[in-house]
Amino acid sequence: MSNSIVILTGAGISAESGLGTFRDEGGLWAQHRIEDVATPEGFARNPKLVHDFYNARRAQATKAHPNAAHHALAELEAKFPGTVLIVTQNVDDLHEKAGSNNVLHMHGTLHGALCDACGTRWTAPVTMMTEDPCPSCKKQATRPDVVWFGELPYGMERITEALSQADVFVSIGTSGEVYPAANFVSEADMFGAHTVELNLEPSSGASRFAETHFGSATQVVPTWVAEELARTI
Ligand code: APR
Repeated sequence: MSNSIVILTGAGISAESGLGTFRDEGGLWAQHRIEDVATPEGFARNPKLVHDFYNARRAQATKAHPNAAHHALAELEAKFPGTVLIVTQNVDDLHEKAGSNNVLHMHGTLHGALCDACGTRWTAPVTMMTEDPCPSCKKQATRPDVVWFGELPYGMERITEALSQADVFVSIGTSGEVYPAANFVSEADMFGAHTVELNLEPSSGASRFAETHFGSATQVVPTWVAEELARTI
């Protein structure tokens, strides 16, 4: 019986809630240049373009509803006798809306604002502008509290510790294209965890997983959660 499960989620788990993925056909990186909207250099060059990009995603995420995959993971956390940690690359709050509590946003969140001058964080307004004064230092240096390319993801020490203790590591709805998340499967495997990929199609790292199930998240995730709970009850 496992008593510690670490779950990595990516944009694919939110696709059926209507939120775009990045690298699927017509995805976000087909519509916007990463260097323009997801790098510190892009923000310095044109902060309004970056705020427009995240304001649009924040408005969409605010209206989005969790799907059966998010709800299944919340049920797992509620009923599983051990610990369940969701490490998400997603900046939406659909895991929380579904009732998951133990969620770590390694790429930050659309609902956070960060002062580029003093590092203060606060809850983001739906529409964010650079001119919004920081509640602490009053400087007009507001940015979304999301992790851009070239920046350190959040919570890495906690993630490494959780992977070292995990009995099961599950990767859901991620292409396995972005590090360090793409290496979590190897870290978990090295520490002896059973590794599972649940994805629409094989990710770049599919061959590194001991178990894989392919299909839409709203199908394969509830099925896997039911089987995992049956194993432990
Ligand atoms: N059900 C399950 N999986 C799905 C579904 C679905 N309905 N739709 C798409 N997928 C899968 C795709 O097959 C793909 O493997 O989800 C994955 C989405 O991959 P990406 O678009 O690359 O998104 P992600 O892996 O989360 O990207 C990681 O890259 O650009 C950065 O910061 C960004 O957090 C993001 C990171």
